[in-house]
Amino acid sequence: MTVLAIRTARLDDLNAIMQLEANGFPSAICESRDVMQQRLQHFAEGFLILEHADGAIGYLCSELWPQDHADSASHSTATHFALGHDIRQTHRRDGTHLYISSMTIAPAYRGDGLGRRFFQQSVALLRTRLPQLHGSILLLSAEWLAAHRIYRDCGYTEIARLPDFFADIAAQDADAIVMRLSFF
Ligand SMILES: CC(C)(COP(=O)(O)OP(=O)(O)OC[C@H]1O[C@@H](n2cnc3c(N)ncnc32)[C@H](O)[C@@H]1OP(=O)(O)O)[C@@H](O)C(=O)NCCC(=O)NCCS
Repeated sequence: MTVLAIRTARLDDLNAIMQLEANGFPSAICESRDVMQQRLQHFAEGFLILEHADGAIGYLCSELWPQDHADSASHSTATHFALGHDIRQTHRRDGTHLYISSMTIAPAYRGDGLGRRFFQQSVALLRTRLPQLHGSILLLSAEWLAAHRIYRDCGYTEIARLPDFFADIAAQDADAIVMRLSFF
């Protein structure tokens, strides 16, 4: 498999990250520049950029959660997923669960297997960097079919649905799906 050019994000990637965000998600759920900057400043190791000759064409960002945060994610009252949440309130340096808070690829590069490879190689890289990890968790809209296929094929399984989580953007199904993968 081709090894992609994946590197840690830097503060000077913020403009590119915000462009990717705007092209990746409806404006009602785009994270703000401040939120992205906090993520970069607080846990840069978990913020990855996919490089290309054209520049940054993808990003994946993450946090480390302790076991109890990951366990509470299966309850419909879970708050750690909230849009715009402050990473400083949820991230723990010694957390054992990788919460993947977002991922996107620039539209021009989609549909050719790049998203799948970027996700697989990013998780592999983060597992190497963070040997304390026991597992991973993420949340997506029930309508994001490409992302769902990638996560499912990487071994993530659905552990909960949060009804109406995506009410602001849904066409038909506003549920959020919470998925989890154990590394052992
Ligand atoms: C999710 C995303 C990164 C995937 O990138 P990509 O390069 O298009 O993905 P791939 O080409 O690797 O395709 C992955 C799978 O999804 C399928 N797929 C792609 N687009 C699809 C669509 N619109 N509907 C259904 N399935 C789709 C592909 O066929 C492939 O499955 P297969 O290998 O079984 O055939 C990209 O679509 C994206 O940035 N979307 C917007 C943001 C987003 O949804 N992020 C996820 C947040 S949780």
